[in-house]
Amino acid sequence: MTELMAGVEHTPLALLMLGRQSDGNSERGVDCPGELPPASDPSLVERARTAKAALGDQVFVLGHHYQRDEVIEFADVTGDSFRLAQQAAARPDAPYLIFCGVHFMAESADILTGPGQHVVLPDLAAGCSMADMASFEQVEDCWEQLGSVGLDAVTVPVSYMNSSAAIKGFTGRHGGTICTSSNAKRALEWAFSKGEKVLFLPDQHLGRNTAVRELGLSLDDCVVWNPRLPLGGNTAEALAAATMILWKGHCSVHGRFTKESVDDVRARVPGVQVLVHPECQYEVVEAADLVGSTERIITLVEESPAGTAWAIGTELNLVRRLAEAHPDKSIVFLEKTVCFCSTMNRIDLPHLVWALEELVAGRIPNQITVEPETALHARRALDQMLALP
Ligand code: 13P
Ligand code: SF4
Repeated sequence: MTELMAGVEHTPLALLMLGRQSDGNSERGVDCPGELPPASDPSLVERARTAKAALGDQVFVLGHHYQRDEVIEFADVTGDSFRLAQQAAARPDAPYLIFCGVHFMAESADILTGPGQHVVLPDLAAGCSMADMASFEQVEDCWEQLGSVGLDAVTVPVSYMNSSAAIKGFTGRHGGTICTSSNAKRALEWAFSKGEKVLFLPDQHLGRNTAVRELGLSLDDCVVWNPRLPLGGNTAEALAAATMILWKGHCSVHGRFTKESVDDVRARVPGVQVLVHPECQYEVVEAADLVGSTERIITLVEESPAGTAWAIGTELNLVRRLAEAHPDKSIVFLEKTVCFCSTMNRIDLPHLVWALEELVAGRIPNQITVEPETALHARRALDQMLALP
């Protein structure tokens, strides 16, 4: 343990120091095993170009919208987590997929691709704190407890893409579906056609925002499941009365936008439209003008007329790129105290160059593989998502 780790509370939720140590059962990171080029190397762009050209069709680079500019420059496709899952599934001929995003996305890509394909995550420390908020053991325990009060048979699990492969496997085994922020409404509608209740994992905000704002449920129809408490901190009666059982998880980036920042930007910027991601807290989404997945945020801004003003509540790399791409519009970041997603930012040009050059040398670095039994069930839940009406 590093000195810095001393004194850090060791709970299943505590993030390891980024890039140090390892935990194969979670999104937490490990050291990069190879020789990384220094970030100061002036030839990094050239090296990335050369290695990518040498690999040609052998490699397909996927880049999530929250990635750094220096990485997005080398992406063959960019997208939100839904689009990237579709794109990974649609590339059966590429033996190597370099996933510039976070660990759970690379796991999903591995599940959706064939046996001869290899998914590479340039830095294994690119995890997701939200995904780590629901461990497999906790979710199994929750399901058993729901069974003990006779509710498992009427409950359908719906898991956000931002979850480990093990949670996706749990979801597939229990007849549920995966969703992303682009299709959460359709996923819930589908789930309610199969059962009376939904166990929504692990982002309580996306679950609540979708159920209440898009499906017309009330806040009282939702209960929160705290995995540290018996029955998640609820009575058996409250669980029986609830329609949505929301796992107590959140995004450490989007969860920090506040209603005060919405009020503040309205006072500062006349005519501003506030546009936020559905991982934001309910009161923030309620105070905003528009809500959308990253893909929808981009479309709304792109399609808006020149001269419009936007305050955007999502990851900073994306907001900055949007502002640069649309100088005819006024685009500001919603909150001063929120910054980049630190784990998305782990993937930088040195890591990408290293991953590409390793492939050129005939070695497969940082391959992400999901154990076959888990992958089988997770695939069922992912396929269910891809088949949503
Ligand atoms: P989407 O890509 O589905 O918008 O999700 C945002 C996110 O937080 C990804 O980690
Ligand atoms: Fe996870 Fe939030 Fe970062 Fe997305 S933005 S990877 S949900 S911590």
